[in-house]
Amino acid sequence: MSPRPALEVLISAGQIRARIAEIAVAIDRDYAPGPVYLIAILKGACFFLADLARAMETPARIEFIGISSYGRGKSSSGEVRLTKDLDVSIEGHNVIVIEDIVDSGVTLSYLMKVLAQRKPKSLRIATLLDKPERRQRPVEVHYTGFEIPDKFVVGYGLDYAEDYRNLPDVCVLHE
Ligand code: IMP
Ligand code: MG
Repeated sequence: MSPRPALEVLISAGQIRARIAEIAVAIDRDYAPGPVYLIAILKGACFFLADLARAMETPARIEFIGISSYGRGKSSSGEVRLTKDLDVSIEGHNVIVIEDIVDSGVTLSYLMKVLAQRKPKSLRIATLLDKPERRQRPVEVHYTGFEIPDKFVVGYGLDYAEDYRNLPDVCVLHE
């Protein structure tokens, strides 16, 4: 049996809630009177999407897209694949892609190309977390919750091999 990894709180549920309220104000300012499409990348961004959508006043339409780029480990395989597509056309609509964390940027640079081809009226990114030190591909992020150091984090949607997603805080996973 390997020892149980230790979790250290990096960003508390309260800090997340307060920051999401600020991002919601910025989105309301930029997108009123709406509607705006919020497209969450499965599965990690679901919690951020759910809290952000309820903190906003702008009417939002909720969509999901599935991307696979990571295996079960902690680093990207470099390969990106669409595993679940949108149910609707986004042509002519204002769209915000909702992500849990931008790391190498491989996932989002691929996805933004795919979505831009569908001719949305506007296309932006909101991410809860950003690890700028790790960037390999340029990604333009409009709304960022927190910039964090190059540490592997779990909780609030983020997983390690599918575990820890339902922790209320963002925690560093120490092994
Ligand atoms: P990128 O393509 O390298 O930017 O990877 C983005 C994806 O990698 C995110 O959507 C996460 O699923 C995953 N990821 C990157 N860093 C972490 C982390 O620290 N914890 C958990 N998942 C991560
Ligand atoms: Mg993920």
